[in-house]
Amino acid sequence: MTPPVGGISPSVAWEATADLVVVGGGVAGLSAAISASRRGLAVLTVSKGGPTDTATQYAQGGIAVPGTAVEGDSVESHVQDTCDAGAGLCDEEAVRSIVDAGPEAVAVLESLGAMFDRGVDGGVSRTMEGGHRVRRIIHSGGDATGAEVQRALNESGHTVLFGTSVVRVLTVQGDVAGVLAHSSAGYGVIHSPTVLLATGGLGQLYSCSTNPPGATADGIALALDAGAEVSDIEFVQFHPTVLFAAGSTGRRPLVSEAVRGEGAHLVDLEGTRFMTGVHPLRDLAPRDVVSRAIAEQLHRTGTDHVLLDARAVRDFHTRFPTVTASCLAVGIDPQAQLIPVAPAAHYSCGGVVTDVWGRTGVPGLLAAGEVARTGLHGANRLASNSLLEGLVVGGRAGIAGAQRLGRRADPADISLPSTVSVPRHRLQTLMTEHAGVVRDRDGLDVVTRAVNGAVPAEPRGSVWEDAALTVSASALALAASERTESRGCHTRRDHPGADPAMRRSTRVRRNAHGDLELRVPSGVDDMDLMTGVG
Ligand code: SIN
Repeated sequence: MTPPVGGISPSVAWEATADLVVVGGGVAGLSAAISASRRGLAVLTVSKGGPTDTATQYAQGGIAVPGTAVEGDSVESHVQDTCDAGAGLCDEEAVRSIVDAGPEAVAVLESLGAMFDRGVDGGVSRTMEGGHRVRRIIHSGGDATGAEVQRALNESGHTVLFGTSVVRVLTVQGDVAGVLAHSSAGYGVIHSPTVLLATGGLGQLYSCSTNPPGATADGIALALDAGAEVSDIEFVQFHPTVLFAAGSTGRRPLVSEAVRGEGAHLVDLEGTRFMTGVHPLRDLAPRDVVSRAIAEQLHRTGTDHVLLDARAVRDFHTRFPTVTASCLAVGIDPQAQLIPVAPAAHYSCGGVVTDVWGRTGVPGLLAAGEVARTGLHGANRLASNSLLEGLVVGGRAGIAGAQRLGRRADPADISLPSTVSVPRHRLQTLMTEHAGVVRDRDGLDVVTRAVNGAVPAEPRGSVWEDAALTVSASALALAASERTESRGCHTRRDHPGADPAMRRSTRVRRNAHGDLELRVPSGVDDMDLMTGVG
């Protein structure tokens, strides 16, 4: 990949100062902002979109949180299910730390006004999803959990500067000094010793995704540019049941896994159940297993979708109002008809390497939520662990932000980052074809050649997003090429089995020349877990 060109000095039209800059207005960003503000920090939160343009808004299933009153559930059983789904790459200490803090984080959210569904006995209702052995997932509005979480956080009174993108994290001698931002007022510098990246995922790398249009890997690019490491980026989770419509691209409506948790099952176009015999949990196997089984069906039969039979789910319309609305919009009544579904890009299991307080290896740089890799998800995220992680690690990052580790930047020394990019549509087509549910060496080489041939574009419009997607595709192809095995949600057609010697995470960073380089620690236990706030 061409090194960042840099060198062009932006004309800085505005300046501001904060103790903590939060980049992103979803669950992790706002949890951090609220937690830091409560501790007296001057927090400036920026978001490139509007109040509901977040992946949090679209989360359906719920929040996985151990329920002490649920038979068979405990912190340890939730840790076990998470590690089983994570296919050998979870950091068990990090998993336990995050799961254990779940109930308290949910209580904080409830104190902000979030409401969770309750049963006739008045107790909180809990549902099932793939990979969970007990019903531990709390939910809101049936299948509108994310919207309720976002509403409660948006109404907390914390101010967000919407329509403001971050173009570069500023560093002085390796320490964070603030951000270079861009809004309708032009380029601006926000001086701050601490910056939290809570920018979400990278679903827009693919033609079809459950993610909003803003999921363009911005935080991955910002972190690499600032000197942080990215890990496990080859593990992109494809959600097995995304509403299928021939030829459609962009954000596609999810058909929550909780629909299968409430009894729905998958069938092929002949009506035959195909998850039987694939995994003991059948239709509720971990997500990577179900997506792979569907991909195999599609490949074998030459079709483009399978069907979800939810006709036996009681009170479907009231239990799943969001899914119902999406289905009715395309003329399907899920209570009476089969739902056409196919896998689509859903979640980045890897990301910027952090500890369970959101701290990266760059002094003053924090990351939380989907953009981060804490070790919770390993090679495949357990369903509904993402809102949990955003709440817990986001809240903690607000505390870690009080460390004020960074320095002050001189606007005269600021330059724009690289704009090297592959046109978005071309990149999405290549990634979908060659780096999707199933990959192989030849296909990954095609992606690598395309990103290596990318050229700088004019620094305007969505070019920063295109550049972020391109550098992330490059990192992903690098890590996926090196991982010559199939594990979790990384499936190699040319290496179908898991290789015990590869039970370790990959790490990608920029070297002194600006090129991406891959580092492979010797084993999963070699990953240094930094815990506690010093
Ligand atoms: C779903 O409702 O199926 C999505 C939940 C998740 O991705 O955790």
